[in-house]
Amino acid sequence: MKKNKSIMRALAGEKLPTPPIWMMRQAGRYLPEYRATRTEAGDFLSLCYNSDLATEVTLQPIRRYGFDASILFADILLLPQALGADLWFVAGEGPKLSTVTDARDLAQLKGKDDIHNQLAPIYQTVKNLSQALPQETTLIGFAGAPWTVATYMIAGKGTPDQAPAHLLKSTDRPVFEALINLLTETTIEYLSQQVQAGAEVIKLFDSWAGSLKGDDFTDFALEPTKRIISALKAKHPTTPIIAFPREARENYIGFAQKTGADCVAIDNSISPAWVAKHLQKDGCVQGNLASHHMVSGGQALIDDTKAIVKSLSGGPHIFNLGHGITPDADPKNVQLMIDTVRNSA
Ligand code: CP3
Repeated sequence: MKKNKSIMRALAGEKLPTPPIWMMRQAGRYLPEYRATRTEAGDFLSLCYNSDLATEVTLQPIRRYGFDASILFADILLLPQALGADLWFVAGEGPKLSTVTDARDLAQLKGKDDIHNQLAPIYQTVKNLSQALPQETTLIGFAGAPWTVATYMIAGKGTPDQAPAHLLKSTDRPVFEALINLLTETTIEYLSQQVQAGAEVIKLFDSWAGSLKGDDFTDFALEPTKRIISALKAKHPTTPIIAFPREARENYIGFAQKTGADCVAIDNSISPAWVAKHLQKDGCVQGNLASHHMVSGGQALIDDTKAIVKSLSGGPHIFNLGHGITPDADPKNVQLMIDTVRNSA
């Protein structure tokens, strides 16, 4: 049954006449029904930990648009919270966390066996979804990659250039490396529980991979991803994994092969023609329409959508955005994108 789902077929390397489609942040503030459920929950984090409401918002874009995949509604920062970091969201500013900058902060974090109580509602959401989703819809679980999660834990917030994390990497290498290792080990446990609860595919978000250069990219983006993938494959050999080393540019070349990922998700800094030439020979690729089209729509959306479908039609492809949809997007433009993809083959 699973194998007949279009997303699973693309991830297995099959070239399909029409690429399957889903969208990063497809459950989000651009949808009025999401905003209503979020108000009912109280705030974003309460929504993440309320399995019934998190199930509801995950299903909303599936009902409205019939996407081929559904992504668990949660956040990459729930793992640091389960490790013991304080986490809160400030309207208009994004996430805030208590910081980890020295050996004492690090020693206060929990270990891999102590995270599951806090994360139990997330596993329950996955269980609910695996029952509630239409049978043709693939359920994707996810986590942040260690480097990206570490950048938030070290700085205590999102940063434009990840400077605090780069600084710790050079001033206290042992603490920095221990944090990356802790995140690698706990991410394996967290994702493994998601698979056991019913996630059929896993995606690893390394949103800030692009700021790692040279050996740093190898050591802190590629290696942790490889460790996570090989541990998950040992436990769950049939679960495909999508890696998203955002803005890795030339480091995208060979990333799937070196890490064991079944698919790489691509951002907007590389062209589909380049992706077809350099990445698709290694397997499935996912992406990469610019999110701004979901705000502006029109002929430009249609033209870019068709160009991406065409450029990547020679191999396995899952259509997606290059990054998450933004709150100011118009829900009608999402339908226009879907219609264009499904009619352009
Ligand atoms: O894609 C999905 O719909 C699944 C759920 C999901 C969310 N966040 C929900 C969310 C996923 C996969 C994420 C991943 C995530 N979270 C990343 C990696 C992907 C990326 O965007 O680069 C990162 C860096 C985070 C951390 C995070 N969470 C930030 C920086 C913010 C604030 C930014 C913003 O848009 O306000 C969040 C909050 C967040 N996570 C929202 C959603 C729907 C908005 C919350 C709200 O106010 O309702």
